[in-house]
Amino acid sequence: MTDNTVIPVKPDLAAGSRFDAARRAEMAERAARDPDGFWREEAGRIAWMTTPTRIKNASFEGDVSIKWFEDGVLNASVSCLDKHLAERGDQVAIIWEGDDPNSDSKVTYRELHQRVCRMANALRSLGVKKGDRVTLYLPMIVEAAVAMLACARIGAVHSIVFGGFSPDSLASRIQDCDSTVLITADQGRRGGRTVPLKTNADEALKSCPSVKNVIVVRNTGGDVPMQEGRDHWWHTLSEAAATDCAPEPMNAEDPLFILYTSGSTGKPKGVLHTTGGYMVWASFTHELVFDYRPGEIYWCTADVGWVTGHSYIVYGPLANGATTLMFEGVPNYPDVGRFWQVVDKHKVNIFYTAPTAIRALMREGDAPVRKWSRQSLRVLGSVGEPINPEAWLWYYRVVGDERCPIVDTWWQTETGGILISPLPGAVDLKPGSATLPLPGVQPALVDGDGKLLEGATEGNLVILDSWPGQMRTVYKDHERFIQTYFSTFPGKYFSGDGARRDADGYYWITGRVDDVLNVSGHRMGTAEIESALVAHPKVAEAAVVGMPHELKGQGIYCYVTLKSGEEPSDALKKELVAWVRREIGPIASPDAIQWAPSLPKTRSGKIMRRILRKIAANETDSLGDTSTLADPTVVEDLISNRAG
Ligand code: WT7
Repeated sequence: MTDNTVIPVKPDLAAGSRFDAARRAEMAERAARDPDGFWREEAGRIAWMTTPTRIKNASFEGDVSIKWFEDGVLNASVSCLDKHLAERGDQVAIIWEGDDPNSDSKVTYRELHQRVCRMANALRSLGVKKGDRVTLYLPMIVEAAVAMLACARIGAVHSIVFGGFSPDSLASRIQDCDSTVLITADQGRRGGRTVPLKTNADEALKSCPSVKNVIVVRNTGGDVPMQEGRDHWWHTLSEAAATDCAPEPMNAEDPLFILYTSGSTGKPKGVLHTTGGYMVWASFTHELVFDYRPGEIYWCTADVGWVTGHSYIVYGPLANGATTLMFEGVPNYPDVGRFWQVVDKHKVNIFYTAPTAIRALMREGDAPVRKWSRQSLRVLGSVGEPINPEAWLWYYRVVGDERCPIVDTWWQTETGGILISPLPGAVDLKPGSATLPLPGVQPALVDGDGKLLEGATEGNLVILDSWPGQMRTVYKDHERFIQTYFSTFPGKYFSGDGARRDADGYYWITGRVDDVLNVSGHRMGTAEIESALVAHPKVAEAAVVGMPHELKGQGIYCYVTLKSGEEPSDALKKELVAWVRREIGPIASPDAIQWAPSLPKTRSGKIMRRILRKIAANETDSLGDTSTLADPTVVEDLISNRAG
């Protein structure tokens, strides 16, 4: 595979798309020349109560201030619901496909509007008002989308915590933003098993005094204790509430949601997105990148607990009046053909998933895919981590029958939506490359000193100027926002990723250059896993690094130093794995643990992670300079006792 493997745009796609190469070029040119004019026009894609006259007002210097459409007034739920009632009230807004292949349901825009209004009124009846935070800890059920939009309707700020996170992780995310309400379910379902959401929530709430009310969806019907005065059944509240609810007028820069994400330090950051710019970006990117056409069935397999679910299951598709499919299950249940069975069942046109799922399914061979027709598919997408060319080509040839373009979409929780991606009808593809920036996006590569690099090169991926969907701050910690994203390369947004740019200007994302891991598309700070490990009574010190992993992209490799007097054993390894799963959640399960009598440190006491990464990757013949180590013999020991 070389940079020169090019798969040209299919002529029929280009002909049928609103965004062909000429249009894309024209948009990119206009967005660069006249950003205010361009984004003023694009703002028209969503519904405003007061049309903005001030468009862009952003500076990456000094205190960093990012504002878009700042005198505009709107409500995000109106763009997702009310706006569509006249034209497509009876069109299906959400297709829900259960974990069990025999359970599904459909909700029209009109029904969704009513359900959202009821829950919005219910929240108001509990005293929730504009600006209050509401935490959602839900499975992939329609109520998750309803709860998000209900919060938006009354101006409450939702904070979704992925249902796979532990009680501790849930508690710290509730505490950080002082939520007054938690919305959860009795249990979730995944791969034929149940997830004890309410039990976890009860555990978490022991340390969350801010939460006065808990709303519980009866989902599986599992027996769960309800606390008198605090816990309310969702259906009881909904049934008592009216089906219309006046949307709260929100300034474009009023918060829409907080979503916690991992960085290089221990504590997850509350990424804050506001209303106007985020909605414009979600709608704009969903339409361009997927070449979305009215009437199409669109399926993003993410969970609403991640930003992909926010922007590309709920806000983007609904703002565009699409039919969005919400899937409760997993790719391999009841069997590894599940994705394609669902594609055929619901005649899915656009399918968006993660490389880790593609790699896992690729390993099962072509037969489970070929068994299904997949004729409805038109565009395929990938997100969350670099996709290796081999997996890309399998996705292209086997899943898409060489008919469907693949959009490899690079973005982050912080960016609100896609920044670098091909447009199906406009950009020639290269397997493994996210290709080119979207109109209005200005990526660049810089060296370690922040010097801009030109032409074909490799470096740190930065963005030079603001785009509407950008995060505005870290919740309650603007200093950390500046520190994390704008201090490494002053005046530029630093993504934390490295990338290569080829002679055609195509970007090839190489992965994180900071202490953040990407495990099966899930982002995790090594510091979080380390602090979970050292919280164990027998652990003195821990260092966590990523290691190459065939399916997960990266695996979690832990070096653990025990307290003196503690004996290493396989039983203790198992105990530590279970411990980390319980502290953070199953997504943080260590893949390898190595006992480290001591860790390689510089004379000033800093752990040399570069060396630990090399040992974990079994690249011990290229350790680099070890002369600055306080005790170089430590490395020999670690090499000879490598785990796995
Ligand atoms: C990190 C962001 C984007 C929504 C899901 C993850 C990696 C994401 C790609 C891609 C290579 C990618 C980056 C990024 N990443 N998409 N197409 N190619 N890497 O959001 O949890 O905020 O993680 O995911 O490393 O920084 P997130």
